Amino acid sequence: MKTILSSRPALKAVIDQIAEVTGYLWQNGWAERNGGNITVNITEFADAEMAAMPALVPAIQIGKELPMLRGKFFYAKGTGKRMRDLARYPMQNGSIIRICPDCASYEIIADEPVLPTSELPSHLALQNYLLQTGSCYKATLHTHPIELVAMSHIRRFLEGDELTRVLWSMIPETLAFAPLGIGIVPYKIPGSIELADATLEQIKTHDVVLWEKHGTVAVGTDIMDAFDQTDVLCKAAKIYLSARAMGSEPEGMTDEAIKEIQQVFNLPKARPC
Ligand code: 13P
Ligand code: ZN
Repeated sequence: MKTILSSRPALKAVIDQIAEVTGYLWQNGWAERNGGNITVNITEFADAEMAAMPALVPAIQIGKELPMLRGKFFYAKGTGKRMRDLARYPMQNGSIIRICPDCASYEIIADEPVLPTSELPSHLALQNYLLQTGSCYKATLHTHPIELVAMSHIRRFLEGDELTRVLWSMIPETLAFAPLGIGIVPYKIPGSIELADATLEQIKTHDVVLWEKHGTVAVGTDIMDAFDQTDVLCKAAKIYLSARAMGSEPEGMTDEAIKEIQQVFNLPKARPC
């Protein structure tokens, strides 16, 4: 059977990478049932045939007007779909969508009419921001990493930069690979426009955003990069919790040691692209 990927090997490579990463999400225990979602901007692979493909169902409202997204194409995980199923069958558990000229709705064009994730407003708000700022980032990942979600139940970690400071102090690599730290979004209804707006504000100045008592959102040059960003911060959270399980509050690297790493490695204060 001819599918959208049949004659597009470069696009297939991107979808294969998404499938690989969703396997890791499941193996990490971050993706119970349908937990988590993904979008990847695939516009660079779109051709005239994709632009002319008929919609499989009538256009669907995003709930926000996102001017940078006009005519853009995305792969999106399907709502209610499992990451572990997506790992084997990415085009049955997600779909390709095309944003309509009104910038406020989209059409599903391939391969099947799989309805995109309920968190689409958050993902597309970030995608709109990435395009607006000329970023080379293409992927957004929402997942439920156990240790980071657990830490979001502790009030102290929701205040100011306390969580970033503690995570950075667990292992030098956290600081090196997540130099912007983790932003906090106070609890909001999943899938809501309020959640999308608050996530957008936090991602402007952080590598990863933590939704209180829910999960994380990361952006990346590709989906592997977005996964790595989440994984690096989750590793630090695991080290923190392991030390606590031994009965002590971990010492953490000193503020001086953190500053030294920032200087010696000349760590960026903004996303590199
Ligand atoms: P979807 O199945 O709609 O992607 O929702 C999963 C989720 O994690 C909601 O926050
Ligand atoms: Zn979720």
